Amino acid sequence: MGTRGLILGIESSCDETAAAVVERGARTLSSVVASQIATHARYGGVVPELASREHLRAIVPVVRAALDQAGITLADLDAIAVTSGPGLAGALLVGITYAKALAFANGLPLIAVNHLEGHIHAVLLNEREQDQALKGTGFSPDNQQPNAAGAKAHADSAGIMRGLKPPPPSESNFSAACSAPEGNPRPADESALALVVSGGHTHLYLARPTASAWTYKLIGRTLDDAAGEAYDKVAKLLGLGYPGGPWIDALALHGNARAVPFAFSQIKTKVHLAGKAPRTKAARTAPIANLDPRFLFSFSGIKTAVLRYVELHNLRPEAESRRQALFTGPDAPAHPTVEDALAQCDPQTLDLIASFQYAVVGDLMKKTFAAAESLGARRILVTGGVAANRSLRSRFTAEATRRNVHVAFPTLALSTDNAAMIAAAAWPKLQAKDFAEPNLSANPSLAMGR
Ligand code: KG4
Ligand code: ZN
Repeated sequence: MGTRGLILGIESSCDETAAAVVERGARTLSSVVASQIATHARYGGVVPELASREHLRAIVPVVRAALDQAGITLADLDAIAVTSGPGLAGALLVGITYAKALAFANGLPLIAVNHLEGHIHAVLLNEREQDQALKGTGFSPDNQQPNAAGAKAHADSAGIMRGLKPPPPSESNFSAACSAPEGNPRPADESALALVVSGGHTHLYLARPTASAWTYKLIGRTLDDAAGEAYDKVAKLLGLGYPGGPWIDALALHGNARAVPFAFSQIKTKVHLAGKAPRTKAARTAPIANLDPRFLFSFSGIKTAVLRYVELHNLRPEAESRRQALFTGPDAPAHPTVEDALAQCDPQTLDLIASFQYAVVGDLMKKTFAAAESLGARRILVTGGVAANRSLRSRFTAEATRRNVHVAFPTLALSTDNAAMIAAAAWPKLQAKDFAEPNLSANPSLAMGR
């Protein structure tokens, strides 16, 4: 057993097999992600059986690469942390079973981490790394030497792992500010309102550090689809690639966001008070009782509104020919670019895409800032795959400046699923000796912060 506070994190809750080594929740030694996007793309969404199979294939080489890139062996570790839920049962089980076996065989404690807690700690990890860089400890999450292991391992691993996640379509266009945690650095160990916004979740938590652990109070969440799910479904409807978020993000820059006035109606109090069961699996991960309806989200309506617009304006045939030209047709490029997609989109479609994104980001902003104001929170963390979105980052940043509150995002690599966030979230649990039971199993609808 090591003495450096080194935790190996393992993440397999959805369609990324990831492993990372993080020191004391504050320094990423390696972060390796093998994405299954190529496997699921042709189905337009994650196929659970294929996900489990791909995790089984990738888990051993990914963990090995994480240890190698960190320059350590299992003997140097202090603990192994693994995502225990929420997520796909079969996918979670692969990570959990491997983590258990490794921990048992090496006499290491096993720590179970909620995936949503991991996303929150992605921002805290970045903030700690940024703080250390500013304090001149030679550590920077964005430079290459010597401590940019987290960011660099993502790039390095592309050469090692087959099927690694491709960068978002126009990542090269992302500004430097967009790839680094934004805003002035603040101590990572301060209470914050956290918006976890991804393909499976749209949840608001009040995250508070206590002497022994972080605690999370659920403030709001979606009643149906997650925001990322809406991005993915709208992209699929319009004949764009999977996952849809990066495509919509890039194409929205070319449309008029005010062209289609999508509106989010206020969530009705009676739905909330009636205590009806949430309508989708994604929404079942946390209870809705006692939540303020002002902080509840619903993204199924806008998805339907986009569908109606497409039907009303007869855009379906165009979407189908776009899909063929970009992905399924005999002349489709092997790796379609944003420029390829742009050439297949008329102004009306670009306006629709921009307007959809404008409405979704506006709704996320409105409810998050309202919750922050109502709770007196001066610090907001936005995390999860959708937090990679450029429009979201710039609009949240502008609003935070206007309101004089602090907002922070993870780096792009840590916005989507990864294992560094799992290892970082496990550090306070290691200190508190909050270890998993030997019978730890996958909990697909694991809740947090009741
Ligand atoms: O956090 P994540 O990797 O996995 C989950 O925990 O769900 O998030 C994936 C989601 C997908 O729905 C994807 O479309 C969305 O994040 N996403 C984006 C962007 N990049 C990824 N959504 C909007 N803009 C982006 N740039
Ligand atoms: Zn996630």
